[in-house]
Amino acid sequence: MPDPALCTEADIRKLVHQFYARVRADARLGPIFDAHIDDWPAHLQRLCDFWSSILRGSGRFTGAPMPKHIALPDLDAALFEHWLQLFHATTAEQANQAMARQADAAAQRIAQSLWLGYQSSRRGGKPDGAQRQAMLAPLQLPATMKAAP
Ligand code: HEM
Repeated sequence: MPDPALCTEADIRKLVHQFYARVRADARLGPIFDAHIDDWPAHLQRLCDFWSSILRGSGRFTGAPMPKHIALPDLDAALFEHWLQLFHATTAEQANQAMARQADAAAQRIAQSLWLGYQSSRRGGKPDGAQRQAMLAPLQLPATMKAAP
């Protein structure tokens, strides 16, 4: 559940900026973002609004992540899992670990939903025949890092 007391906007800003610095330096994800983002300060502000809405319930985000990701060519389960690993490496460094746990849980849920939406749109709404890549591997978090149910 979003909770304004979970973290501050400054906590979110730090998480978002550190994560996307990592993404931009990453050999697999960096080139994808470079090809789509012209205005990084504006994109980072959008992402801060997104995480503020998810974690604090601020309602500041008004974008449409699903169509934007569906439009990206050649995404696959391994890339989403890699995104999640980089995200978790960043949450693990945050001073606010209550926020980190909620952010990890939300990222896993949203990545799963984006990946399922991506596959449906690419296969004309039909599920993956092999089902092999349908689900992302659960993020391997130490028990102490998992969000409370
Ligand atoms: C393989 C994994 C991913 C890749 C390669 C990726 C890439 C991108 C790119 C290139 C954009 C900019 C699109 C544009 O403005 O045209 C974008 C936007 C965005 N992404 Fe991702 N993304 C991934 C996973 C995720 C996940 C798991 C989340 C959330 C937990 C997320 C949240 C967002 C949000 C909120 C936006 C802004 C959407 C908007 O402006 O309406 N992304 N992503």
